[in-house]
Amino acid sequence: MRVTDADVGDAARLAVLLREPAQWLRDGRLVALPTETVYGLGANALDETAVRSIFAAKQRPAFNPLIVHVADPSWLGRVVADVPPLARRLIDAFWPGPLTLVLPRRPEVPDVVTGGLDTVGVRMPAHPVALALLRAADVPVAAPSANPFTRISPTTAQHVLDGLGGRVFAVVDAGPCAVGIESTVVAVEADPRGGERVVLLREGGTTREQLQAVVGEVFVADHADEVGDAARRSPGRVERHYAPSVPLRSIARRADGALQVPNELERPFALLCRGDAGGVTDAAHVDVLPADPAGFARELYAALHRLDRAGVAVALVEQLPDDAAWAAVRDRLRRAGLR
Ligand code: TXA
Ligand code: MG
Repeated sequence: MRVTDADVGDAARLAVLLREPAQWLRDGRLVALPTETVYGLGANALDETAVRSIFAAKQRPAFNPLIVHVADPSWLGRVVADVPPLARRLIDAFWPGPLTLVLPRRPEVPDVVTGGLDTVGVRMPAHPVALALLRAADVPVAAPSANPFTRISPTTAQHVLDGLGGRVFAVVDAGPCAVGIESTVVAVEADPRGGERVVLLREGGTTREQLQAVVGEVFVADHADEVGDAARRSPGRVERHYAPSVPLRSIARRADGALQVPNELERPFALLCRGDAGGVTDAAHVDVLPADPAGFARELYAALHRLDRAGVAVALVEQLPDDAAWAAVRDRLRRAGLR
């Protein structure tokens, strides 16, 4: 089902359009929905059978917890047992938006949603169609990215159909996603030094700098020994993920702007780069993405989906800047197998 900008601009019309998909969600069906980050594979989060069918459709291991989507912060009480003050500050600053909070769960949330953890990941998406659908369904919606397990996340409805067509009851198509990579995931937990602290579990659409501007220090689960069990607590951090089937190889750009194609290279090859093609003329497929981190993130997954279909032996990927603004994109490319 297609939702146009004109539909989005007319709240009454949008509500009518979304009445059926909302009912399907309530009935326990799988409905793929647009969000600002990526398309999600949605099911009623409080319906254990419906949530199980998400795992079956994606062929995703059951220990991997799902993110629950709410239409409004006032819905938190349906799934979360407690909202610590620090979490409240993050919600005030970043919702709706690409930030998932891991908070103590309520007993009504089925184990299959949380992977058996005593916490649940929750976010309020910044997408008018997602919000209208949630409101119309009036149930919290568990939704992982709508792709087969370990494959590239979908940023268009066509990506969803390509990966999961036949396994999803309906796809609500509202065009390409604006952020393009998944939400940032943080836990708010007791600080061993007293009070609470924010721990970054997954980089994403909200940067660490943005978080720090609101809450001060943000701990990173990766290299902080004191949060060493974070990998277990956030099992979605499996190394290989978001992966195209073609091998990715990193290449540098010289000071004069030329991209350095290795002498020994399988052919045909593809090139994925930033701003311009760096003088490379013999690639079988070229994807030039925007030079800024937000623009690059927005178009990255579509480019990886195209690489998958380009029929090349290898894809060369331009090395990205080291700075923090690029952290989430670097993370996704590393997990896509970039060496
Ligand atoms: O942007 C997004 O977050 C998208 C859209 C659809 O909202 N969803 C998404 O879901 O990326 P998914 O299932 O691909 O990622 C869920 C990840 C888990 O793999 C894990 O890293 C983290 O969120 N997560 C969820 N619940 C958690 C919990 N209780 N404790 C720790 N990590 C959790
Ligand atoms: Mg995913």
